[in-house]
Amino acid sequence: MKRKERRKRIGTVAWKIFGSFLMLIGVGIFVSRLVNKPPSDKLSKMEQMEVLIDEGGCMSCHAGPEYVCHHIHLPIVGSFIEKDAEKAIRFSNMDHAFEQLYQKKSISQPVLYKLQKIALNRSMPPLSFRLIHWKSPLIKGKQEILLDWIYTRLSEDYDVPYPITHALFQPIQPLPDTLPTDPLKAALGRSLYYNLSCASCHNPETGGTDNLPFSIGVHNQPSETSTLTTFNAIFHTVFSWDGKATTPEEMVSLHFKDPVKMQADTIDVLIDVLAENKELMDLFAQAYPDTDMTENTLIDALVEYLKTLITPNSPFDRYLKGDEDAISRDAKKGYDLFKKYSCATCHSGVPVGGLSLEYVGTANEFFINREELILEDMGHYKVTGNPIDIHRFKVPGLRNIELTYPYFHNSVTDNLRIAVSAMAYHQRGKKLSEKEKDKIIAFLKTLTGEHPDLEQSTQQTPE
Ligand code: HEC
Ligand code: HEC
Ligand code: HEC
Repeated sequence: MKRKERRKRIGTVAWKIFGSFLMLIGVGIFVSRLVNKPPSDKLSKMEQMEVLIDEGGCMSCHAGPEYVCHHIHLPIVGSFIEKDAEKAIRFSNMDHAFEQLYQKKSISQPVLYKLQKIALNRSMPPLSFRLIHWKSPLIKGKQEILLDWIYTRLSEDYDVPYPITHALFQPIQPLPDTLPTDPLKAALGRSLYYNLSCASCHNPETGGTDNLPFSIGVHNQPSETSTLTTFNAIFHTVFSWDGKATTPEEMVSLHFKDPVKMQADTIDVLIDVLAENKELMDLFAQAYPDTDMTENTLIDALVEYLKTLITPNSPFDRYLKGDEDAISRDAKKGYDLFKKYSCATCHSGVPVGGLSLEYVGTANEFFINREELILEDMGHYKVTGNPIDIHRFKVPGLRNIELTYPYFHNSVTDNLRIAVSAMAYHQRGKKLSEKEKDKIIAFLKTLTGEHPDLEQSTQQTPE
């Protein structure tokens, strides 16, 4: 009898909690309708954005622990907000973006693409936050302001055409056919590229990589990560898996100092060796008639050559430029899936990646066996020592992806199918069907472009 009564009482309490929760949602929606208005159109666009971010509480979840709102101390709702805030940073760490916004600097393309996605779906802020912050939901009027601001930023800062309709918005842009280069410096750069054995690891004939799990460097030492391709690297803004460089110059300079990658103990020894190569010194004299060979001139020439290592005119680029028949129906569906599952929020822009650092395992743990982790698996943490950067990696560019296996920083797989389904599962919590994988792969293969040195016919992607 007693037990029955207790059960009944627990039942009633549960109903009361549930009822109050429902009421809270009801009141929330009602009050929200009354108080949540788009920012006044008397404000400038920038001021409107400030209101939107402030009312939306975006910073309290997306700008790091110091900004988390005090409501996390509330019972029940508080713990939901806290969990959301922890997740939010991994999906989109926007601490720099907010700073850049307030200082009116350009915001990175991937951040803008992510914002476009949530603005279009009106999926932010999450329910936990909306329940008690009645001015926070992205109502239609706010959505319009946000989307207009995003498209304006993209077109002014990155030449991405302002779309006539949202459906026409493209997160990927075509590669230019050529980049302006100084031909004499590029010719010297090419000679250096082969003389300094850049080509042994970054072979242009095999997609700018060596297709080995770990490249073999000086004195037969293996590299600790998979080799990233040099093709189209010139369009990137983040270099190396751990994001240790932000310009190609910096990257090449770091390679010069890397004991595995480069032969010479010092740059002077390297220059002495090069000085004995008459052909190369002739090229040097033509490219830099008034200068001695220094580390800077070597880097300058190599980067000039990198400007020629681009692979334009891929079927997908032709499609983007208006040739509807350039890619198959499956590939078009694959592109739609690539956008639908938000692959394109990280892998975007002209290089289809290479523009940001992102966490791996946003949705599901990426490193299954944590005991076997090495320093290279820590990502950007290796560079900063800041725990917030653990497992934050460079997003690799996906152009020519069928040629640049093995995949991921640790070369865990040669198989593009496995790589694609791993990404969907670990980054988006999505288990793809076999047909979806076929379509995404069909799309990815249309990203293979053209370069005189690229021997496409001999390449076969394991699948
Ligand atoms: C209560 C915490 C919270 C608040 C407040 C919040 N977000 Fe989020 N945000 C999240 C979570 C959690 C995710 C992870 C994705 C998901 O769960 O849907 C996320 C994801 C995102 C993403 C990445 C989407 C993607 O597909 O990768 C963007 C962009 C974003 N939020 C923008 C915003 C903006 C803009 C605001 C303010 C209007 C905002 N968020 C407010 C918690 C929050
Ligand atoms: C022993 C093999 C090896 C040699 C030799 C080598 N590299 Fe690399 N390179 C790599 C590896 C491995 C990476 C990825 C680096 C990392 O994550 O730290 C890389 C990265 C790069 C990147 C950045 C790519 C990106 O997407 O971030 C550039 C650019 C580059 N190398 C250019 C060169 C040039 C120029 C030379 C010759 C001076 C050269 N490399 C010589 C192995 C090599
Ligand atoms: C949150 C950002 C993010 C999202 C979303 C994302 N990726 Fe990635 N992707 C990355 C990062 C970071 C890496 C590098 C991870 C590593 O090597 O540890 C990567 C690596 C890859 C690679 C291997 C590339 C190489 O050169 O080794 C492929 C292929 C890929 N992603 C495809 C996809 C597809 C398909 C989707 C959508 C289902 C997707 N990605 C979604 C960030 C993302």
